[in-house]
Amino acid sequence: MCGIYGITGSDRESGEKVFEGLKQLEYRGYDSWGVAQKTENDIDTQKEVGKISEGTFADKGVREAIGHSRWATHGGVTALNAHPHTVGEVTIVHNGIFDNYLDNKEKLVDAGYGFRSETDSEIFAGLVDYYYQESNDSKQAIMKAVADSTGRYAVLVIFKNEPGLYGVRCGSPLIVGVDERETHIGSDIPAFLEYTNSINYLDDGQMIVAHGAERAYYDLKIGKTIEKNNIVVNIDNQEVDKGDFDYYMIKEIFEQKETIERALLQDKTLIQNTCKLFDDFDRVFIVGCGTGHKVAMVGEYFFSELAELYTTAVPASEMNTWYPFITSRTVVIAVSQSGETADVLEVVEEVKKRKGSVIAVTNAEQSSLAQQSGHVLPIKAGIEKAVASTKAATAQIAVLYLLAATIGEKGKRAVGNLLSLTANLNDQLNPNYADYVQNIAELLQHHRSLFIIGRGVLYPIALEAAIKIQEVSYIHAQGFAAGELKHGPIALIEKGTPCLVLGSDPQTLSSAEELKARGAMIIGIAPEEAKVFDRWLSVPKTERANAIGTLIPIQFLSYYLSTKKGLDPDMPRNLAKSVTVK
Ligand code: M6R
Repeated sequence: MCGIYGITGSDRESGEKVFEGLKQLEYRGYDSWGVAQKTENDIDTQKEVGKISEGTFADKGVREAIGHSRWATHGGVTALNAHPHTVGEVTIVHNGIFDNYLDNKEKLVDAGYGFRSETDSEIFAGLVDYYYQESNDSKQAIMKAVADSTGRYAVLVIFKNEPGLYGVRCGSPLIVGVDERETHIGSDIPAFLEYTNSINYLDDGQMIVAHGAERAYYDLKIGKTIEKNNIVVNIDNQEVDKGDFDYYMIKEIFEQKETIERALLQDKTLIQNTCKLFDDFDRVFIVGCGTGHKVAMVGEYFFSELAELYTTAVPASEMNTWYPFITSRTVVIAVSQSGETADVLEVVEEVKKRKGSVIAVTNAEQSSLAQQSGHVLPIKAGIEKAVASTKAATAQIAVLYLLAATIGEKGKRAVGNLLSLTANLNDQLNPNYADYVQNIAELLQHHRSLFIIGRGVLYPIALEAAIKIQEVSYIHAQGFAAGELKHGPIALIEKGTPCLVLGSDPQTLSSAEELKARGAMIIGIAPEEAKVFDRWLSVPKTERANAIGTLIPIQFLSYYLSTKKGLDPDMPRNLAKSVTVK
C-alpha cells in the first residue's frame, strides 16, 4: 500500500509541498512517514513513526524531494523501516512489494552491501546503486534493477549527485502531474491537485525521467522513449471536512440519505447500455475485497433472483481457481470503492487477457480500475474518508440492485422500491435512531465476542456486519448464515453471548430461538418486533432492498462501539483505506 509523492521543480519549496501533499495520501497508510530533500551536496531525510498529519517537518528549501506515508508490509513499524531508504548514491520511496527481494539481497550482500532496515524497498535502492556504480548511468541503473525485480510496485528515485526525479510503475499506480515549472509524481492525484490538474497516467512497465518541467517517458521493455499525451481531469479539489461531526465515519453514515438516491438516479442510458453486455454471455462473476466482496455476495442474490442469471461472487484474492472458466462470453463485475485494490486489479488484468468483459462498480472514476475496465458504473457516493466503508457500500448495493433489476426487466419497480426505501431512510438516519443504537452499543461494548446471523440476502449483510464491527471496535465479531448455526457455531454460545439477528421471517426467528435457548442475548434488527428479541432495532419494510436498511443500524452500532471504547473509527489500527498490495 503506502502513498508516494515526489517533486522536481524550479522553486525551492519542493520539500514542504511533498510533506503537505502526502497528507492527502494518508488514506493509503498511516503508520509512519518520511521525506527526503535533495540539498546542495547531500540528501536530508526525516522519518517518524505515526501519522504524517500529526508530524512536524523541517523544510530545507530544495528543488527536489520525495516522500512516503507507510502501511508496513516488510518489517515492523519503526523509523528505521520507514521510507525513504538510501543506499550509496540512491534514495527511493516505494509502494507495493518486491517478491524476489531476498534473492537480490543475497546477491548484494555477496557484493559487499549491508542493509539497515527489514524492508524489501531498501534492497531495491541497493540494486539501483549497484548498477549505478557499475555504469554511472542513472537511467540504465534503474532499468536493470527493474529487470531484476518481480512483484507489483511503483517507485520514485533520486540520486545524490545527479539532478532529476525518476518514477517507475510496475503494477501500482503512479500519476504524473504536469506543470510549466515543475513535475509532480504521486500515487494519486489529490497529492498535487492544488498545483495542477493536467496529468499523465504511467502504464505498467513505464518510467518517467523528469527534471523541473522537462519530462521523458520510457517503455522499459523496449528501453526506448515513448510519447505520452497529457490529459486534464476535472476533479473537485474539495477539502472534505467533518463539519459538525466528530468523525468522518458518522458523517458518512448520515450522508446516505443523499448518496443512495444519487446512486439510483444515475444515467439510465449507461445502465441500459451496460445491460446489453449480458445479452450474449454464459457466466457472471462478481468480485471485490473486504466490504467489496460482501457487496458482491449481495449482488449474487440480486442477479440470481431479479435478473435470473447464474452468478458467482468470489473474493478477488481467490479468483485463481475460476480463471479457467473466463472466456470472451464472461462478464466480471469488479466492485471497489477506491478502484485501486491490488487483488481486484489483478483479476481485471487476467480477465482482459482471457477476453472477458469487465464492469467496474466504483466510487473513483479516475482510478486504475475505471481506466482498465471496459465499462464503468460510478456509484457517486462522494469522497469516503473513513477507513470503514459505509456510504460507498450502500451505493454499491444500490447500483447492483439497479443493474440486476434492469436486466430482469423489473427496472422501474426496482427503482421505485429502492426510492421508497430512501424515503424511509429518514426514520433511520436521524439523531433519535442513532441514540437508540448508542444505548445498544453501551450494552455490548465490554463483550469480547459477538455473533450475527442472517438468511438470504441478509447472510452477506451478516458477514459485512462482522467486518464493520471488527475493524473499528476490535471486538471479535462473526457472521453466519442463520441455517448454518446448528452445524457448529452454536457451540460458541454461552449465557449472555450477544447475537445480532437480522430479519424477522419465521426461519430466522426459529434460529434466534435456538440461540436464546442456549442463553444468548438477542438483538433483533428487523422490520417487525418479535418475542425472542431482547432488544429491537427497527428497519424499513422493503423487499430485497432490506439489505441496505439492515446495514445502516449496524454501521451506527460499529461506530458507537468504537467511540465508546475511546478508539478512532476513522483510522483503525493496522488498516488503510486503499489496499494496494497483494
Ligand atoms: O477500495 P475497495 O472497495 O476495493 O476496498 C476493499 C476493502 O479493502 C475495503 O472494503 C475494506 O474491507 C474496508 N475497510 C471495509 O470497511
